[in-house]
Amino acid sequence: MPATPAHDVFRKPARTPLIGPSILSADFGRMESDCRFLLDRGADYLHLDVMDGRFVPNLTMGPDMCRWMRHYFPRTALDVHLMVEEPEKFVDPFIQAGATNLTFHVEVHQADAARKLAARIHDAGALAGLAVNPPTSIDAVLQVADAFDVLLIMSVNPGFSGQAFIPDVLEKARRLKPLLRSDQRLEVDGGVSPATAPACRQAGMDTLVSASAIFGKPESERETVMRALRG
Ligand code: DX5
Ligand code: ZN
Repeated sequence: MPATPAHDVFRKPARTPLIGPSILSADFGRMESDCRFLLDRGADYLHLDVMDGRFVPNLTMGPDMCRWMRHYFPRTALDVHLMVEEPEKFVDPFIQAGATNLTFHVEVHQADAARKLAARIHDAGALAGLAVNPPTSIDAVLQVADAFDVLLIMSVNPGFSGQAFIPDVLEKARRLKPLLRSDQRLEVDGGVSPATAPACRQAGMDTLVSASAIFGKPESERETVMRALRG
């Protein structure tokens, strides 16, 4: 199991909730400076949304983006969210590109295959995460949660930034949180803003992803938004 400062951000967080800006809403022409600005002002990690045009109706970024982020931010935890039909194809390319955590979706694999893929991700040197979409029951996650470092509850139907938070998913967090170990993170992704973060924190979410609530604001307001997310 890897044990670097980047991995420890998730496994042994110095403080929670962790705040992870999703770079999907960054200015892609200013990616390095947009991200550095946030990391210098309290962002705990960066969230990379990978979409294949099949699992979700959008295309975003691949391992090369991860490699450049690792180049510019050698010590930062890079949280790769694989919204793809065949995550096993991308395990090695993303880990070689410096991913800290690889999260795939519970919707794409049965329990046995999900456990095997988590083990493969660990063997290859990264943490493993499992994500669940809003319409999917949490029961499939409960069966295999012990094998994962990060459990990601989606609070929008994935594919795009800037969608409205779905409050029904908070019940999943209330069920999952008491079952998790202290080295496991409960992450929420989608519509997380200063308005919705308090309910997420109260439901037990300790790791908050946010794209448009941060990058949608002028640079001068982004630190304040991250503080509000943290509570
Ligand atoms: C949604 C992605 C999210 C997205 C969040 O498909 O997984 O990470 O970037 O965007 P906001 O915070 O704007 O809902
Ligand atoms: Zn995401």
